[in-house]
Amino acid sequence: SFGRVGEELGAQVYLVGGMVRDLLLRQDNFDVDLVVEGDGIAFAREIAAREGCRLRTHQKFGTAVLIFADGFKVDVASARMEYYQQPAALPTVEYASIKLDLFRRDFTINTLAIALNEGSFGELLDFFGGQRDLKDRAVRVLHNLSFVEDPTRVYRAVRFEQRLGFRMGRPTEHLLRSAVRQGFIERVGGNRLFRELELILREPDPWPAIQRMADLDLLKYIHPNLKVDARMPGLVAETRRVVHWYQLLYLHQPCEPWLVFLLSLTARLDDDSMLGMCRRLKVAPRFLDLLCEQRRAAKKVLAGLRRRVRRGTEPKASDLYRMLRPLDSEMLLFLMALGDDSIRQWVGHYLSSLQQVRCELNGHDLERLGLPPGPLFREILDTLLAGRLNGRLHSRDDELALVR
Ligand code: CTP
Repeated sequence: SFGRVGEELGAQVYLVGGMVRDLLLRQDNFDVDLVVEGDGIAFAREIAAREGCRLRTHQKFGTAVLIFADGFKVDVASARMEYYQQPAALPTVEYASIKLDLFRRDFTINTLAIALNEGSFGELLDFFGGQRDLKDRAVRVLHNLSFVEDPTRVYRAVRFEQRLGFRMGRPTEHLLRSAVRQGFIERVGGNRLFRELELILREPDPWPAIQRMADLDLLKYIHPNLKVDARMPGLVAETRRVVHWYQLLYLHQPCEPWLVFLLSLTARLDDDSMLGMCRRLKVAPRFLDLLCEQRRAAKKVLAGLRRRVRRGTEPKASDLYRMLRPLDSEMLLFLMALGDDSIRQWVGHYLSSLQQVRCELNGHDLERLGLPPGPLFREILDTLLAGRLNGRLHSRDDELALVR
């Protein structure tokens, strides 16, 4: 009904961006981005009223998000031209034709649009050679200042190249390298840079993009000491394997593979550099614990496990449990990627089974048995759990017998 509502409001409506690109490449993409030649917010309001979906609007930008009952989202923008007056000033929005709206975009392959209004429905708009570049498998900017206007596009170019199996056009790569040489990336806010890095590490196999970032001298903006050394390819490949293994376990435990890749990418940074990187990139507090505190703790755990490998002693299940329990699954997977076969097996065993082990008795049971509540409870329950982990206790009766 998008086209019909547009028609009624006297506004042209277009499907734009990644979805059109991926439609032509026959790849899945579920991000619906619409541009309305006119008042996008009024259009979104009308759709929301008719379809009974939720609506979020940003007046300042003339944009809206429609949220359907099943969680499906549609982004709506008003065709606009942005005047960047001061670097920090918010852009003033004006209605403009779809062509100008598309001209602001990063790469030609992202400038294709499909008309949705009745009468012109399905018409493909291609002002800047997007179809040609899809055919050439080329990432090309629309004009010489693209990377200067928005230096995060440097990272986007790398991501699209690797994701789509495309290559930057030569002039585009030239412009990119020159923007990098002139230090434009230093002007990018830390959190925007971190977001771009996240998107790269969210690709199924981030290795080619990491290599390409090294090749284009982009890693130093993440941290000056960050380098791709001889061990990095092996570590990233191992990370991919353990992440894949973990996904096949279907444990329904939250795990963000991109964070495991981030840990691998930064494995050689010392603690101070890691902290420096997190500060510079304004890493959110929820990641800081993993990237700094847990990483320090995990190094000690790894050293302990390596000592056992050298001595040829197998850790007791309860010891493994105690060592690994404070660590998130991302860190555990990182340890698996770093470790040798024995360590991988031990940590893998913890993730796939030990972690789920529980004893049956609880505090109430102990009280009913007439034991005085207090620190003793914790000790007893820990002993019971250790008994379960080490395979000495198998049932509630076993546990009761031990307590009595
Ligand atoms: N865009 C841009 N410069 C940026 C970010 C985005 O010009 N720094 C433009 C792109 O042309 C893109 C559109 O804004 O088509 C929407 O951005 P986004 O959703 O990030 O891009 P998609 O192409 O949809 O990419 P993805 O498939 O990763 O969602």
